[in-house]
Amino acid sequence: MSEVIGHRGVASLAPENTLAGIRKAAELGLEWIELDVTLLGDGSAVMFHDPRLNRTTNGRGHLKKQTFDSVKSLDAGGWHSGQWQGERVPQLDETLRLIKDLGLGLNLELKPNRCDLHLLVDRVVTALERENFPSDKLLVSSFNHKALVLFRRRSEYRIGCLFETLPRSWRHKAKQVGAVSIHVNAKKLKEAGAKNVKSAGYELYCYTVNDTQLFSRLKGWGVDGIFSDCPQDLK
Ligand code: G3P
Ligand code: MG
Repeated sequence: MSEVIGHRGVASLAPENTLAGIRKAAELGLEWIELDVTLLGDGSAVMFHDPRLNRTTNGRGHLKKQTFDSVKSLDAGGWHSGQWQGERVPQLDETLRLIKDLGLGLNLELKPNRCDLHLLVDRVVTALERENFPSDKLLVSSFNHKALVLFRRRSEYRIGCLFETLPRSWRHKAKQVGAVSIHVNAKKLKEAGAKNVKSAGYELYCYTVNDTQLFSRLKGWGVDGIFSDCPQDLK
């Protein structure tokens, strides 16, 4: 991935996990972005972070209770600012197509939100294969280790293990799924942990970094890149 990765698209400038955010990232000249994928109750794969619609759309309720028909007309942009009113919750397929067309790299974070893990992995693998998504432009990650194990059984795309805090078992988990990278909360990472990850040969990425001081400190520890809501200020 790149040194500065747009978090949820470019979360400070455009609504997260929307096509507008992806276009904004390309406009800024970013090389890689991170997006979250999850399932609705009817098994549709959509780009969405929370388990509920409330924060980032004008709808209400848990994603498990929704179908794509009930979600497709919701406004997923107006909460961010009036400029983005009318943005929709995108489906995985159209998202992959746009990213591919724009030549961006994608860190696709599997967000199970209590959905069926097998179905989520199946939907993701099927969409990636259908779109013939280039393997050098994709890295799949998840806090849910089982989702990564299932994904590895189905696909050879690169994997990153995502943690809040680096657990004791990180090496075992990374090895189990053939991970190339470790992703950790910047606030929880310590210098010794960063050194261990780097000396074991893994790439190391931190979320979510929005200020230059923290960014410089992490770089000094050997961190390869950061996820940022405001990559335009850090690039
Ligand atoms: O993948 C990095 C980061 O996005 C993980 O946290 O909650 O923003 O998805 P979250
Ligand atoms: Mg994420």
